[in-house]
Amino acid sequence: MENNFQFAERMATIQPSFIREILKAADNESVISFAGGLPNAEYFPEQALAELASRILTERPQDVLQYGQSEGETELRQHICDQYRQRHRVDVPVENILITNGSQQAFDLIGKVLLDEGDKVIIESPGYLGAIQSLMIYRPQFLPVPIGQNGLNLDAFETALSADPKLVYSVPNFQNPTGFSYNAETREAMANLIRDKSCLIIEDDPYGEIRFEGEAEPSFYHYLPEQTLLLGSFSKIIAPGLRLGWMVAPSPVMQKLIVAKQAADLHTSRLSQHLILAFLKDERFEPHIRRLCKAYEQRCRLMGEKLDELFAGEVLRSHPQGGMFMWLAFAKNIDTMELFREASRLGMVFVPGQPFYTNQGGSHCARLNFSCASPAQIDRGLALLHQAFRTISIISP
Ligand SMILES: Cc1ncc(COP(=O)(O)O)c(C=O)c1O
Repeated sequence: MENNFQFAERMATIQPSFIREILKAADNESVISFAGGLPNAEYFPEQALAELASRILTERPQDVLQYGQSEGETELRQHICDQYRQRHRVDVPVENILITNGSQQAFDLIGKVLLDEGDKVIIESPGYLGAIQSLMIYRPQFLPVPIGQNGLNLDAFETALSADPKLVYSVPNFQNPTGFSYNAETREAMANLIRDKSCLIIEDDPYGEIRFEGEAEPSFYHYLPEQTLLLGSFSKIIAPGLRLGWMVAPSPVMQKLIVAKQAADLHTSRLSQHLILAFLKDERFEPHIRRLCKAYEQRCRLMGEKLDELFAGEVLRSHPQGGMFMWLAFAKNIDTMELFREASRLGMVFVPGQPFYTNQGGSHCARLNFSCASPAQIDRGLALLHQAFRTISIISP
């Protein structure tokens, strides 16, 4: 039967994600993949979670199986406040925290509450596709600003701000896709430029706790509590399948967000919330984080050393101090889509740079994920990448 469905106009510009297509190609045991953005499943704390889930369901079934409040469980929100105070020395009032189904839901709620068609949103270029795609449903106009190893380009940022955007989207720690982190000067300068404008900054920070080198810089929330939407997530440090994250928002925005959250799904799973809270308070949590950071550090270092050895002088790469991604920039004449095709023919995949840009750019760049592959796969996968690079360099000198 002919498909005559009339889809909503807002879906007209939404494309299926190219990365999903790549992940399908990588869903084959013989392919070495640096393409995904997943945490390493070997490090899920499954045993602790199984024990804690059983305890919660035995001890307080009527709480966790009943409907709950849209803001989220008070005990979990309080724990998040305590962590901000103890670890980051920022005071976040508990009533300014909303529990979400991961940061991905936070993007959607922010779009619903704040964006009308044509509103301007500053995004990092290259930037995180999941956020861009989610906000795109609300049909804003994106203003891409280049990101470098110390954060957004401040001149370009100032120019974009003069167009009066409603939102700025940033991932200041171990950015996806580049692994870059904003230094303190850039954060402060951006905060000073935004201050007193009617503009909010989304500070998306799912990777901040996966730091294996260097010191944490102050959050935008530290400079601009009244204009920051600070997003956190348990996906990368515990398990993404539990779909749990949170958002800190100024009171007037929070009121609207709660209404939008209620309309979307009433509330986030109470079992997930209590399970995560129990693990956060468990003595196994801190050792778990240390083990995770150590494993990612080892993989990141190995990937960097191997790239430097194989590609000496032929590629520039980022030097992430945490997170899950490394960014490569080849000479401008290297087309990484072509490199991707050749590499996948040989049995390894990565994500070419282009899909991370909403305008032109990135055709000579690539994102490599280092959290999932084993050390042996990193060794073999990069050897295959180098072989593919040699082949395409000969074809297009
Ligand atoms: C920068 C960034 N923000 C948000 C998310 C989504 O996280 P969540 O699982 O909390 O929805 C991801 C996931 O890869 C990410 O890389």
